[in-house]
Amino acid sequence: MTPCFPGPVKSSSSIRLALSTWTEVENYLQSCKGVILPIGSTEQHGPTGAIGTDALTAEAVSLEVGKKTGVLVAPVQAYGMAEHHLGFPGTMSLKPDTLLSVIHDLLFSLASHGFERIFVVNGHGGNIATTKAAFSKVYGTALSRGLSTAPNLRCRLVNWFMAGSVFNEAKKLYGDKEGQHATPSEIALTLHLEPTLIEKQHKLPAAAPAGPIHGFEDFRKRYPDGRMGSDPFLAHPDHGANLLEKASEDLSIDLIRFLDES
Ligand code: NI
Repeated sequence: MTPCFPGPVKSSSSIRLALSTWTEVENYLQSCKGVILPIGSTEQHGPTGAIGTDALTAEAVSLEVGKKTGVLVAPVQAYGMAEHHLGFPGTMSLKPDTLLSVIHDLLFSLASHGFERIFVVNGHGGNIATTKAAFSKVYGTALSRGLSTAPNLRCRLVNWFMAGSVFNEAKKLYGDKEGQHATPSEIALTLHLEPTLIEKQHKLPAAAPAGPIHGFEDFRKRYPDGRMGSDPFLAHPDHGANLLEKASEDLSIDLIRFLDES
């Protein structure tokens, strides 16, 4: 059966896996083999950004994509590979091999129940390499364990912050002040999602410029307040609402294509 997309829904409650019963999931699988898995990170985002930024944003974008397409959304995997941020309190990181196992096991669970198109919406650059490695690994496991879904199993990674229209809008709004970490675009999205965060915003001195990423001690020396080249004070909740709409529009088109892919 071709994995189809069920069509838009009004509220996100009907597409949240966490709010579904197993019988509803079984019924869903009769007509759709697609699922969205948000992944983020729990790590410092500069002196004014929330520790949960990458998980909050990935989940919010996923739920909007779910509403636009009717595709189920799994709970966010809120811990990611954030080893280089461990020099800042509050950061909680999974080592690359731990994250590889976690993502692999989540993908395998979904595949073992009949999901054939797993659309991973990522909010953190540090997860990219490991997530792709988990895709390679799960294809092999699905085959070696003889899953009926193995021949048709496809996983796709998309980074919401790199979606074409998000990238262009961030460039237009913030220019080179977008930077690489604790960016005004991701902070704007959190301000839209959680207005209490607005109180934490204040003008900051110029950020350390972008540069290499090595160990966490080196990271803190190079980027003393945690930001890399960004000015999050430019962020506004209205920008966040707009970026959420742009990201979910772009990624919905991408998801529908992915569901149709052979
Ligand atoms: Ni981030």
